[in-house]
Parts: sequence; C-alpha cells; structure tokens
Amino acid sequence: MSLQLGDTAPDFTAETTEGKINFYDYLGDGWGILFSHPADYTPVCTTELGKTASLKKEFEKRNVKVMAVSVDPLDKHMGWRNDINETQHVTVDFPIIADEDKTVANLYGMLHPNASETATVRSLFVISPDKKIKLMIVYPASTGRNFNEVLRVIDSLQLTAHHSVATPADWQHGDDVIVVPSISTEDAQKKFPKGVKVIKPYLRYTPQPNLD
Ligand code: BEZ
Repeated sequence: MSLQLGDTAPDFTAETTEGKINFYDYLGDGWGILFSHPADYTPVCTTELGKTASLKKEFEKRNVKVMAVSVDPLDKHMGWRNDINETQHVTVDFPIIADEDKTVANLYGMLHPNASETATVRSLFVISPDKKIKLMIVYPASTGRNFNEVLRVIDSLQLTAHHSVATPADWQHGDDVIVVPSISTEDAQKKFPKGVKVIKPYLRYTPQPNLD
C-alpha cells in the first residue's frame, strides 16, 4: 500500500553526506522535506539540488529541514556535490542519503518500475512537525521541480494549520484567503477581525491572518 496524505512519514536511519542520520532526530519538532532524484551527475538533478541550496534561508525561515535521496553511493555523492557547488554557485549543506540498497526509496515508494526499473522518480514529501505527510508530488525524470511552488505550498500548509482558512488557486503569501465552508458567515465575521467578503454563501474571502 503506497503512502498517502495524512499517513505517518516512515522513520529510518541512513548514511548521508553529513554522516549517519536518523530522520526523525534530524527533523526534530520542525517541518521537513524528503525528496528523491534519479541519479548523481545528471543535469536536471544538478539544478534541482542547486536551487534547493540557494533557498536555504527560505527553508530556515519556515523551520523546514531538507533531505535528499539518491540510490548512488556516498563517494559519488561527495564528488557530485562539489560539481553542484561549483556550477550552481551554492554550498549544498543538507544531507544527501546514499540509498544504495534502496531502503528509503522503497519505504517512500520512490521507485516507479514502469517509469524506470532502477532509478527513482522525482518524489517530494512535505512532513509536518507531528510527522504526518502533508504534500506529495511526483515528477518524471525529464522535468525539474519548481521549488518556489514547494515554498508556496508550505506557506499555505503552515497558515491553514493554525487558522480556519484555505488558500485559493495561485495564492501567494499575503493574498486574501478563503474562509473554510464549515464556519458560518456569522462566526467568520467574529473570527476574522480584518473582515469577511461574501461573494456567494460558500465563497468567502478574508485578508490573510497573521501567522504568529
Ligand atoms: C537529469 O537529472 O538530468 C535526468 C535524469 C534522468 C533522466 C533525464 C534527466
């Protein structure tokens, strides 16, 4: 049975470019991203890991720790990491798992045999502080992911975890949000002091509540 949203993210201990790491210990009580890529020394993956490293401050701001998975060995990761740093002008300092025996890849369903018998697809999981899976995306090897979209979803997840709101299509941090249908308009008006705009009884907007 493959992992689904709301499931507990499986824990593991693995060899990584930053030493042997237990996943739950690494995440602590913050948010996490675990993402796979098909192979070391490949061009799209090089840009993806470079982009992730360049967004370090954005992930830190959101209390998100990042860990990458590759089924290649540790010595290969080390050499490739130098190339990523050189070509993408970054310092990759998040762990890259050396998942040679595919333990983590199998645990998270990152191998899709009809896409490739040996390489992992581009899977990405966002994990909340209670270790639940909040987002899963799967891209093919030929398409690099949009890491600004991942940040956007994390903003939405962190906001909607604390307020009775949902975020509309193409929402960006700071835009108006939607009042969830389970709240009456009367209650919404009390709950959201910045105001509630009623377009239809089921379509109501309020300015984005503060995150703190
Ligand atoms: C890449 O990361 O560039 C890549 C990997 C596998 C197939 C195609 C592209």
